[in-house]
Amino acid sequence: MSPLTLTSTYPLPSGHKIPILGYGVYQTPAAIASSVVQHALQTGYRHVDSAVAYRNEGPSAQGIKDSGISRSELFFTTKIPPKDMGYASAKQHIAQSLQETGFDYIDLYLLHAPYGGKAARLGAWKALVEGVAAGQIRSIGVSNYGVHHLEELEAYIKTTDAEEGAGAGGVLSVNQIELHPWLGRKDIVAWCKERGVVLEAYCPIVRGERLEDPLLVPIAKKYGKTTAQVLLRWSLQMEFVPLPKTVTKSRIEENADIYDFELTEEEMKTLDTGVDQPIAWDPTVSHD
Ligand SMILES: NC(=O)c1ccc[n+]([C@@H]2O[C@H](COP(=O)([O-])OP(=O)(O)OC[C@H]3O[C@@H](n4cnc5c(N)ncnc54)[C@H](OP(=O)(O)O)[C@@H]3O)[C@@H](O)[C@H]2O)c1
Repeated sequence: MSPLTLTSTYPLPSGHKIPILGYGVYQTPAAIASSVVQHALQTGYRHVDSAVAYRNEGPSAQGIKDSGISRSELFFTTKIPPKDMGYASAKQHIAQSLQETGFDYIDLYLLHAPYGGKAARLGAWKALVEGVAAGQIRSIGVSNYGVHHLEELEAYIKTTDAEEGAGAGGVLSVNQIELHPWLGRKDIVAWCKERGVVLEAYCPIVRGERLEDPLLVPIAKKYGKTTAQVLLRWSLQMEFVPLPKTVTKSRIEENADIYDFELTEEEMKTLDTGVDQPIAWDPTVSHD
């Protein structure tokens, strides 16, 4: 494999490509979203991860439009809110996101969380599939799906393909979940990797809560890097798509400066802690 760079991409099952480093905008105030997104794009990021629930789709998209970089080189993600799963509300959100952003299409539309019960999950999925058929969305996926949610979706896709023709059930391209050395999620990761579903890693720097951890500090010293950069490098070498968030311009640059060093196999093993400690919410374990 050729060495990764800031503009490296992975192929998605949809046939489109996803830039491997994403810029997250959860908790980024709408008033500054355009400016920080522009700074990220000037720094070299090509991928922005937003959501309806973040209330900054419009200003994030504005940052993309004002960057002067061609839309075709940039990748924008948004998500159906957890409280609004179901066919009709998902249809409305897709239309609303296009309006808010002013984009002709959304690169990746995810279901934010597996809430609302089976009918709502599959209904919202069907709305995404129709969005792809209508040219409003390029790729679709889920977020916070545990293996049991993924299997429910896979069964639906297979049945729909069998009844209505190949592709009718949609193509699952991404599962976005919390992933870092203290949350390996091996069952979900294995399920997705077996099927070529790309794993996006949220909270890749553990919200800054582990930056003094004795596992990280010596590795950071060895490479002359920060512990945040070590965490992001780990995520890249796990073949995840990390989505670091920061509104601090110097950190935007720091978090992208992760392509001039490589963790050894031994170091990757050290960071495989076997611990499962989410720092955010954990809808992957929900049952309804
Ligand atoms: N699908 C989901 O349910 C879900 C859930 C959570 C997150 N996400 C996505 O994933 C993205 C990232 O997750 P997250 O924002 O929760 O956590 P994160 O990226 O792990 O951490 C963000 C926090 O770390 C700080 N930080 C960033 N870079 C740093 C650095 N180099 N050194 C020290 N501190 C640093 C930021 O501070 P400042 O901003 O103040 O600089 C912020 O407080 C989100 O923005 C969102 O796009 C998705």
